Amino acid sequence: MLEVSNLSTYYSNIKILKDISFTVQRGEVLCLLGRNGAGKTTTLKSIMGLVDKVEGNINFNNERISKISAHLVPKKGIGYVPQGRRLFSELTVEENLEIGLLTRKNGEQTINKVLEMFPRLNERLKQVSGTLSGGEQQMLALARALCIEPTLLLLDEPTEGLQPSMISLIRKSVLELKKQGVAILLVEQRVEAILSIADKIIVIENGAIVFSSTAQKIKNNPKKLYRFIGV
Ligand SMILES: Nc1ncnc2c1ncn2[C@@H]1O[C@H](COP(=O)(O)OP(=O)(O)O)[C@@H](O)[C@H]1O
Ligand SMILES: [Mg+2]
Repeated sequence: MLEVSNLSTYYSNIKILKDISFTVQRGEVLCLLGRNGAGKTTTLKSIMGLVDKVEGNINFNNERISKISAHLVPKKGIGYVPQGRRLFSELTVEENLEIGLLTRKNGEQTINKVLEMFPRLNERLKQVSGTLSGGEQQMLALARALCIEPTLLLLDEPTEGLQPSMISLIRKSVLELKKQGVAILLVEQRVEAILSIADKIIVIENGAIVFSSTAQKIKNNPKKLYRFIGV
């Protein structure tokens, strides 16, 4: 489904990502770990076409997307929840969701399905989104991404700064989407948050992949991973 091969990414002329390769399949959760500044966000932005220059290849459903312009990427069915949520905070919950729907011209059926997943948002459709709690805003950012009916979803530290009840809600949503066959690329800082939902794990350091494994192998021998992320 998603194939990233030999990806190098530049901001201005500075090389940030160095020769990164990985794949994500339908219904699979790939977790991207790494310290601050390692290049996790840049990896997601590269897929979304939001960086200055990429080398290598990004294929989605066997189509090369590394050369298409950024506004076309979501139309292919790739949902993106940026780090820090980035809602239109002066707009209402409903308006934010409508923007999501517009991208692929989805309608009522889609929004009903999304709101079923997040009943809390359904109760707050007319609320200005900037006045939602942090957890609710994260929910809305996720819900908005789901309004494009993505087959691939990129989540950048979705549980950052959230309280435990919200974290577990987000995890539940991820598992539900996985069950529906959505491919998920999840950026996280904390290993314990993801081991139970990940299928594969990669660690980036300084723009390069330094470790990759199945989650199963890590569960059996977590020490191998801890070496890279300094637990
Ligand atoms: N817009 C930008 N222009 C120049 N450098 C950037 C930009 N965004 C990020 N960087 C640099 O790229 C590196 C990786 O950043 P990032 O992908 O945000 O890391 P992470 O998400 O893993 O914390 C950092 O050294 C950061 O300073
Ligand atoms: Mg980041």
